[in-house]
Amino acid sequence: MRVAVIGAGVMGLSTALCIHEQFHGLLPALHVEIYADRYTPHTTSDGAAGLWQPYLSDHGDLQETVWNKETFDYLLGHLGSPAATEMGLFLLSGYNLFTQPVPDPPWKSIVLGFRNLTPKELELFPGYRLTQRGVKFFHKKVESFQELFAQGVDVVINCTGVRAGELQPDPELQPGRGQVIKVLAPWVKHFIITHDIESGIYNSPYVIPGSELTVLGGIYQHGNWNEENSAQDHKTIWESCCRLLPALQKAKIVEEWSGLRPARPRVRLERETLRHGHGQAEVIHNYGHGGFGITIHWGCAMAAARLFGSILQEQRLAQPRL
Ligand code: FAD
Ligand code: BEZ
Repeated sequence: MRVAVIGAGVMGLSTALCIHEQFHGLLPALHVEIYADRYTPHTTSDGAAGLWQPYLSDHGDLQETVWNKETFDYLLGHLGSPAATEMGLFLLSGYNLFTQPVPDPPWKSIVLGFRNLTPKELELFPGYRLTQRGVKFFHKKVESFQELFAQGVDVVINCTGVRAGELQPDPELQPGRGQVIKVLAPWVKHFIITHDIESGIYNSPYVIPGSELTVLGGIYQHGNWNEENSAQDHKTIWESCCRLLPALQKAKIVEEWSGLRPARPRVRLERETLRHGHGQAEVIHNYGHGGFGITIHWGCAMAAARLFGSILQEQRLAQPRL
């Protein structure tokens, strides 16, 4: 059984890992391959602020809330492990600021210690592991699913993020362009995300400390495919973040990055049977994770692995232990 995962961002790598972890013991002849034309540090996943935080409302999509929770619990389970540093994993507290009262988010019981800000706090703001498993990596652009089936691949896992439409048209998938400035500000120990309901999600200033650099945003431009940094967006981010946290004026700018969130009304995570020659071939789609790919990746990887298990079961190749 040959499985080809297209994509080496957080979704492709975690889905490949999950399938290998769960099926290599059951299926000794399982060969997992990863095809991607962009590897770290050149994927959208590399540029993400890296914060686990779902969108504030699940728009009634309870399945995404479940996958978010599974990812949080998976990450929490690795917090004290030797791999935590390499994974960039640590607990971080911080503030979400709104201009008007909003309902508590559906993920309030998932995180540790969710609470509303006290009046005093409000006054502060006036205004990686796959190579060792034998997984093979190919640095190439895949032009079509048929290309991989013609090479003998049995199942394709589509983790191509914002560019999924190049392999199969998807009018619901749009880029949500973002730009961030990364600064040296080791004294920032809290994240601050402001929410301007009228400007939309992640289109107002945020300050998120990482393990080394602090990420300043936020820009969200729906439909904009430009991956170049914009001087205008730089100015917007810098001025608004310095207004939010004036101490940033002294921070050294180290990097600037623009990336495209794979924006979709809902994540596409499903099996599709495609015609190949006179027969059929299976694709599992796992893309469209907007501005929450880091937040939801492990839950989605496990769901994709379960779909892979259902294909094996139908072909009577292995009994899944999911
Ligand atoms: P990508 O990381 O884009 O990976 C896609 C992969 O597919 C690449 O390897 C690419 O080479 C490959 N590919 C595509 N087409 C082909 C092809 N035809 N042939 C071969 N390879 C192909 N999310 C959070 O949860 N928390 C955050 O704090 C956060 N901050 C963000 C900040 C910004 C500014 C932005 C833009 C996004 C942020 N996100 C955040 C969202 C997160 O970055 C994305 O949801 C996530 O990276 C999507 O992962 P992915 O694996 O689907 O896509
Ligand atoms: C974003 O810019 O997409 C983002 C910022 C903070 C947390 C999650 C996502």
